[in-house]
Amino acid sequence: MMPFKKWFGSKAQNDEWVERIDADNIPNHVAVIMDGNGRWAQKRGLPRIAGHHSGMKNVKKITMAANAIGINVLTMYAFSTENWKRPKEEVEYLMKLPLEFFPKEIDELIANNVQIRMTGWQEGLPNYTLEAIQKAIEQTKNNTGLILNFALNYGSRREMLSGVKKLAEDVASGKVTLDEVDESKFGQYLLTYPLPDPDLLIRTSGELRISNFLMWQLAYSELWFTDLCWPDFTERHFYEAIQEYQRRARRYGGL
Ligand code: FPP
Repeated sequence: MMPFKKWFGSKAQNDEWVERIDADNIPNHVAVIMDGNGRWAQKRGLPRIAGHHSGMKNVKKITMAANAIGINVLTMYAFSTENWKRPKEEVEYLMKLPLEFFPKEIDELIANNVQIRMTGWQEGLPNYTLEAIQKAIEQTKNNTGLILNFALNYGSRREMLSGVKKLAEDVASGKVTLDEVDESKFGQYLLTYPLPDPDLLIRTSGELRISNFLMWQLAYSELWFTDLCWPDFTERHFYEAIQEYQRRARRYGGL
């Protein structure tokens, strides 16, 4: 018997991988840098946006895979504050993906008790993008299962600077005393609050960088990299990453 109560009709071959996972050591929060969409498309002679479209479909697959083993938070890096530098057409295409993704997937996400969240700056996003994601957040606000958190218009340095500024204001106004400023207090000034820090970071496409993603929150996370481009990353690879995580001993600087 599989130790996991839910499994959503994905390919039977994944059951084998699920069975190898220790149900007592599931990471609470997994964060993913979904990289390599452009290269995936280029290798196939397709435009870059075709890679983003495939990447979007993969978000759903990996969400279901995470849900099936009881992960509580899945943060997906969908658009960084640096991604605005890309050609206008590509940015526009990426900004329209939530308009396709949510109407198509929301019923199944609700049926699976998934809660949609967003980490990032609302300012700067087109209204239609924001409305699509806010509607999904609203529609799933009473759900209690997996939090599918989209990092959208997000960048870690800007997040920390803005947190520092707000905290400094609160200290100056006497709302917070300097003695109260510790890691936990600072965490309250970050955009991810009150989500827990990621236990595991997955990055696809062979790049070995953090790229301004959750730099405070990833301090003690396990890092797992694969050469696969994001659209080629399947449930099986996700479960491989979880198994590798389970083999590692997390010491948090201790022995
Ligand atoms: C990085 O690959 C990927 C992105 C910048 C976009 C990721 C977004 C998705 C997968 C879809 C998100 C879905 C929703 C619903 C918001 P890249 O283009 O940098 O790849 P490259 O390095 O090969 O060029």
